[in-house]
Amino acid sequence: MLEKFYGRRKGKALKPGRVILMEKLLPQVSLKIPDVKKKGYLSPDEVIEELHKEEVALECLNMQDFFPEKKDDFCLEVGFGGGEHIAEMALRSPKTGFLGAEVFVNGVAHLLALIGQVNQDKSVSFQKGRVDNLRIFHEDVRLLFPLLKREAFSQIYVLFPDPWPKTRHEKRRFIGPKNLPVLASLLKKGGELIVATDVPLYAEWTESKVQESNLFELKNKEIRIRPKDWIPTRYEEKGIKAGRNPYYFVFTKK
Ligand SMILES: C[S@@+](CC[C@H](N)C(=O)[O-])C[C@H]1O[C@@H](n2cnc3c(N)ncnc32)[C@H](O)[C@@H]1O
Repeated sequence: MLEKFYGRRKGKALKPGRVILMEKLLPQVSLKIPDVKKKGYLSPDEVIEELHKEEVALECLNMQDFFPEKKDDFCLEVGFGGGEHIAEMALRSPKTGFLGAEVFVNGVAHLLALIGQVNQDKSVSFQKGRVDNLRIFHEDVRLLFPLLKREAFSQIYVLFPDPWPKTRHEKRRFIGPKNLPVLASLLKKGGELIVATDVPLYAEWTESKVQESNLFELKNKEIRIRPKDWIPTRYEEKGIKAGRNPYYFVFTKK
């Protein structure tokens, strides 16, 4: 059984335009998950319900099926926050299929506002030239893990995860002994797990848990230097303004 999700699901009430985006655009970019019983597709709400019942077939989801055009590669971002990073990556790499998971509704609505717009008649459309290689899972990504085909991704990003600094909360940290083997199984051999944090304790924790897992190798030795072509996240920029200096880890799957 999945452990409880402890983060925030909601912030301030959404502005009317964002409510419309959540109602009309989110279903267009959400993952469609096969309904094994009815041989059709489940609506996003049904998906969440089914996933909680744990009745959807294991490893039934093939990333390519979520995109109309053939993709060369797939990339997952866990906890995309406001979505600036995944939206920009999706623009830069049209031949890659991106999947972003985020529980926080205000973050999801922010990403939808980056890629879509509400028209005067209250219909929604994608902003000109914006992404069609991006799919959103608006729930706890761990629900998806058993369903995704193994070795699906070339890259998995976990950027500025909630640090849960108290020792009694360390089990809540996303990077840890439970999720690392799953993340490794979802990556292709040589695929990358990219983790960033500006909390020294979380950086130390990440290095030691990844080392203990024996599943990855650290690719960048200069962990205080931003990797080339890095796209900053909102959380990262706030931290830098406040004087925090991030750690960047690029781990490759052994
Ligand atoms: C500190 S924020 C960082 C957001 C963003 N990556 C950034 O750097 O601006 C961490 C985010 O991860 C999300 N998150 C944490 N665990 C998650 C999970 N299991 N599935 C999906 N999202 C998750 C939280 O809702 C939160 O928005």
